[in-house]
Amino acid sequence: MVDGPSVGVVVPAKANLFLAVRKRRPDGYHELVTVLQTVSLYDHLRVGVYGPPGKGHHPAARRRMAIELVTDRTDLGPDEGNLVVLAARALANRTGVLDPTATPEGRGPRTVIELTKGIPVAGGMAGGSADAAGALVGLNELWGCQLDRDALRDLGEELGSDVPFCVVGGTAIATGRGTAMAQVLCRGSFSWVVCTAHEPLSTAAVYRAWDRHCRPTEIEPDAVLAALRGEDPLALGAALHNELQPAAFALRPELVEHREALLDAGALGAVLSGSGPTLLALAESADSAARIAAEVGHRFAGTAVARSPVGGPELRRT
Ligand code: C5P
Repeated sequence: MVDGPSVGVVVPAKANLFLAVRKRRPDGYHELVTVLQTVSLYDHLRVGVYGPPGKGHHPAARRRMAIELVTDRTDLGPDEGNLVVLAARALANRTGVLDPTATPEGRGPRTVIELTKGIPVAGGMAGGSADAAGALVGLNELWGCQLDRDALRDLGEELGSDVPFCVVGGTAIATGRGTAMAQVLCRGSFSWVVCTAHEPLSTAAVYRAWDRHCRPTEIEPDAVLAALRGEDPLALGAALHNELQPAAFALRPELVEHREALLDAGALGAVLSGSGPTLLALAESADSAARIAAEVGHRFAGTAVARSPVGGPELRRT
């Protein structure tokens, strides 16, 4: 599809190892304390300029360039697809790459973003946010914007609560809407079974269910942070905590039984990922994760074995 210069980006999924909801804010969002980590499930993006050679690539024509998302997936919600294009527009506006008042020429150049999904869609693993982060990192390179990761992270904040973390990756603690963050120490590597549900869940619907069914707690992430520092999977399994879990379980009661089955199969801990419905089961080792996945696989739309943490978005230049 892309016939000009192009840049590839590989972006990982995120997991919330701890998520406490403190209160509903006046702006409708919820105040959070959360510990996030990137997990080795990936989406792939390729961004490039496409269009007629020569005159079409004149700088004035490029300033009127359209932005187009191409994906083989038909199950992407409009929000998820839009987030990638919104990310591209936000970067273009911030850096002046595109003229915000101009309408693109029909036969002029256009920036094409090709997306191949590996992260569950609407599963609570920030797939849409990872794609937006990947678009920011890839287009920053393709368009020569020269923004650093901190500037891209700040730009991500206006796009969605998980986008800033997805721009940097690693292991972080976040507060506020989930966007004010600092990296935290994590030693070693952890093995997971990622269990995808048959039907997605809307993040906003899960937060509305939290408003109906749940109350804030005072629980702090100290036990998770100590387990990450101490390279201690047993302690991490016991400390996994997500206060959106009761809300998501109220909407999807079958998840209660699925979580029990993961623990019965030998998981050190099992928790809803973000706003769900994906369940994350922590295993002793990669082999144990594969055994658990084989035992519970029939309950889910899909299971994958993954490890954490991994690095943030990576560029693949061609
Ligand atoms: O920020 P993002 O677009 O990912 O949020 C999706 C929805 O999730 C919001 O519209 C809001 O309803 C809910 N949300 C929330 N509090 C947060 C993050 C998200 O209520 N901290």
